[in-house]
Formats: sequence, C-alpha cells, structure tokens
Amino acid sequence: MRQGSIKVSTLLLCVFFCCALNANATSFSVTSYGAKANPSADDTTAFLTTWKAACACSGNVELLIPQGTYYLGQTVFRGPCKFNTITVNLQGTLKASTDLSRFGKGDDWVEFSFFNGLTLTGGGIFDGQGSASWSKNECPTKKNCKVLPTSVKFVSLNNAVVNSVTSIDPKFFHFGVLQCKNFKASNINIKAPEDSPNTDGIHIERSTTVSITDSIIGTGDDCISIGQGNADVLISGIKCGPGHGISVGSLGRYPNEGNVKGLIVKDSSLTGTTNGVRIKTWENSPSYSYVDNMTFQNIKMTNVFNPIIIDQNYCPYYNCDRSAPSKVKISNIFFQGITGSSKSQAVMTVKCSKSAPCQNVIVENVNLQYTGGSNPIALCSSADVKFPGTKPGECTSA
Ligand SMILES: *[C@@H]1O[C@H](CO)[C@@H](O)[C@H](O)[C@H]1NC(C)=O
Repeated sequence: MRQGSIKVSTLLLCVFFCCALNANATSFSVTSYGAKANPSADDTTAFLTTWKAACACSGNVELLIPQGTYYLGQTVFRGPCKFNTITVNLQGTLKASTDLSRFGKGDDWVEFSFFNGLTLTGGGIFDGQGSASWSKNECPTKKNCKVLPTSVKFVSLNNAVVNSVTSIDPKFFHFGVLQCKNFKASNINIKAPEDSPNTDGIHIERSTTVSITDSIIGTGDDCISIGQGNADVLISGIKCGPGHGISVGSLGRYPNEGNVKGLIVKDSSLTGTTNGVRIKTWENSPSYSYVDNMTFQNIKMTNVFNPIIIDQNYCPYYNCDRSAPSKVKISNIFFQGITGSSKSQAVMTVKCSKSAPCQNVIVENVNLQYTGGSNPIALCSSADVKFPGTKPGECTSA
C-alpha cells in the first residue's frame, strides 16, 4: 500500500520532470517497462505500457527498442498523444507471434495510428514470421477470403518519416499506408520469398503527398501498390525484384473508391519481376472513378515479363464478373525513358475499358528488347496511344 503510493508519486514527479522540463527528447526504453527480449516471454504488454508513458508526455519524445529480439502479438500504438514528435528508435528485431488466433479479423501486427509527427528509424527489423501461415492464405484463389495480418500499418498519420528499417516474411503485406498525409519513407529493405502469397511490399491507400525513395524490395507480390484514393505520390530510387512490379491498383473492385492522380515513378529498376510498371482495374466496377496524370520515367527493366502494362480486364481468379467493362477512366499517362529486356514479345500491353477508353497515353524514348529475339510489339485495345521517338512506333490490336 505504502509502496504503491510512493510509486505513484515518483511517476507523477517523473511525468513533471521528464516531460515538461527536458529540452532534449525524453527517452522511454521498452526494457525499462519490462520488455524481456527473450523467446519465452511475450513483450506485447511491456511495449504498450511504454507507449502509454511516451504518449502522455509533451515535447519531443523517443521510444527506444534496444538491440535484442522481442516477441510480440498484435501491438497497436494509437493516439491521440500529447507529444509534439516521437522517434521510434527500433534497433532490435521484432518477431510476430505465429499463433494466428492472437490476431482478430482484419487485425494487423504492428500499427501506428491517429497521431502526428512519427519518425520510425534505427536499422531494426520487423520479422512477420509469415512462412507458417502462407499455406493458410486463401486470397490468391478466393475473392472473399480472410485477410491475414499486415506486418506494419500506418493509419491516419500526418507528417510521418520512416527510414532505415527492414521487413522480412510478413503474413500478408509488409507495410500499409492508409489515410496518411505527408508520409516519407526511404532506405527501406523488404524481403520475402518470390512464391510467398500477397506479400506486397508497400501498399498505399487514401493518402496524399507520399514519397517512397531509395529502397530495396524483393517479395512475392507487388513491390509497391498504389491503391484507391491517392494523390501526389512519388516513387523514386527503387530496386524491385523478385516481385510483381510497381502497380497502380487493383482499382474498381469495391463501391465508392477514390480517384488516383498525380503519380511519379522514376529512377528505378525492376529485375526478374512478372510486371514492370502496371495499372490494373477490375471489370464490372460497382462505381465510377478515374486515374489521371501518371509519369513513369527513367526505368530499367531486366528480364521482366510485362514491362509496361495497363490491364483493365484484371482478373486473378477463375470466376471474375466479366458482365460489363471497367468504369475506371484512365487519362494522361506518360511512359518516358524505359529501357532493358522483356521476357515477352509484347513489351507493352494497353488493354483499356470498352466503355471508358484510355486517353492520352504517351510512350516516349521507350526501348525494350524481347529476349526471344524477334521484334517487340505493343498490344493495345480501346486506347489512344502515341509513340513519339519510340519503337515499336505503333499498336498491334490486342
Ligand atoms: C501531375 O502530378 C504531379 C505529381 O503530383 C504534379 O506535380 C503535377 O503538377 C501534376 N500535373 C497536373 C497537370 O496536374
């Protein structure tokens, strides 16, 4: 009893001194809040207690995860918080529980949500330990599947910076960026086997002013996927492969999806991927939306199956609803300075919607060789494509 009240007053004193009177960032280490970094201990509660203390602190704070390997179930760092900025200094390795019953329906593993001023850095590793659950993922074959946890999700953050962190073997996506404003990621390392299902590197949705730069991504699905509702996205300095390439979409699957506009993908390379740069939309979309103003510039392809592809008949399953064309309208798409090798003769495929044909697709200084030897071709349908200075200089009907 007596001890308890001493603890409470010490804590109050600490809140006062640590948070209000410290000019430098106040640091909260997970090890001071009981994290064990030990395979026989679960550190989820210790991490959440550390977050609670950091979140209640004003000024600039640090949440330190020192070197060591920490075992965690679902861990949600949720605001609103009192701090001005927080640096999550991840020096250690986080390992996700392999017990799927610890994750509810639609839950993710580590989530940062509803606060401003995050910097996540430190050179540490998120290890989703996904290999145990990949065989339980039905999403590659079933439309209404149970979605497995994404390793790290950023939700409704303003002014977030993520750099120098690694993600390996997620159960589903590596990183998700949802409803964020002004989000910058750089020097990210992403790794999972080529045959791991739905392990998208970074998926972005309903976000504005996002940049992903100088990162290395090799995984089983899209290296980067730009979903619905995004505006002003810059992707630059990406090394992608293996994987399914850098994709816009898939779009037009759900009702009331947002438009996607203002994308630049530049100064990047794709190696051994199934697709290079791609826009994909489903047929018979439940509502109208548009894709506008996208530039794909200075991109090197090496042994890529479909280097340039707009596919408005996207259907990864057997039983897609093909009863009506896609209602996603695609306009003002620029492919500039794309070189290297293609594993298929159709180095470019532009298959657009019959009811909303693609407008103003400009292909400039694109020079892709077919590894099979014969002349490369561009396959197009329902599309207005121009080829200034480019071979092939015309479309073959798809
Ligand atoms: C196209 O998008 C880029 C990147 O967001 C932006 O800088 C540019 O102003 C946009 N152009 C038009 C015509 O909207």
